[in-house]
Amino acid sequence: MTLFRLDASILPATSSSRALGDLVEEQWVAAHPDSTVVRRDLAADPIPATAWPNAVTGGFTPEADRSEAQRDAIALATTLADELVTADALLFTVPLYNFGVSQHFKAWFDLAYTDPRINPEGTALRGKPATLVTVLGGNYSPGTPKEGWDHSTSWLRRVLEDVWGLDLRVVQREFTLVGVNPALDAFTDMAAEIKAGAEAAAVRSGRELAALRHTQTAA
Ligand SMILES: Cc1cc2nc3c(=O)[nH]c(=O)nc-3n(C[C@H](O)[C@H](O)[C@H](O)COP(=O)(O)O)c2cc1C
Repeated sequence: MTLFRLDASILPATSSSRALGDLVEEQWVAAHPDSTVVRRDLAADPIPATAWPNAVTGGFTPEADRSEAQRDAIALATTLADELVTADALLFTVPLYNFGVSQHFKAWFDLAYTDPRINPEGTALRGKPATLVTVLGGNYSPGTPKEGWDHSTSWLRRVLEDVWGLDLRVVQREFTLVGVNPALDAFTDMAAEIKAGAEAAAVRSGRELAALRHTQTAA
């Protein structure tokens, strides 16, 4: 059995998303002690911004006429897709940055999405069990001043759940900047509750992920 784990936090030493991902992973490994965890750390090893355009233009170019950069980009896209297609379950940990999706995650998704197995016509990931852990420094719940400013979570759900068709569960933790930014000190108790709830959700999600099997669903 193989779990594919992708991390996108640019601050690994203090990362809340990685800590929640660890809880999910622990449950997976407890249920499948002989399994392999394949890791892709987008902070340590970012996808070059040039890879996606090179893979796209390479796809429009006859194989014999492709540049070296186009060949390399297509080979990297194949590797990224292999990691997803061959895994039994998937775990993504992705923070909110600048009110939008992590640029590292977007560069990774765009490149992987050029592979024919998982491009708009590809169906290889349909029904595959997956967990998305996402963390937000602030709080964007209904009724809060910045309701509607989180432009990451809905996009992540859209591409993972609707475009790739993953059998997705989402663990979200808001207010991770409470205790870091003194302006948010008034929310200490609420943030502690949110943290405890997210940790419990991560454990539950890990157990579910470990119990599920990939049955490819129709498009
Ligand atoms: C450069 C940068 C930009 C950020 N932008 C936002 C933001 O727009 N909204 C927000 O709620 N939190 C923002 N945050 C806070 C992060 O979402 C928060 O610290 C989160 O916990 C980071 O994930 P990690 O703990 O896994 O590293 C930002 C953090 C950094 C470092």
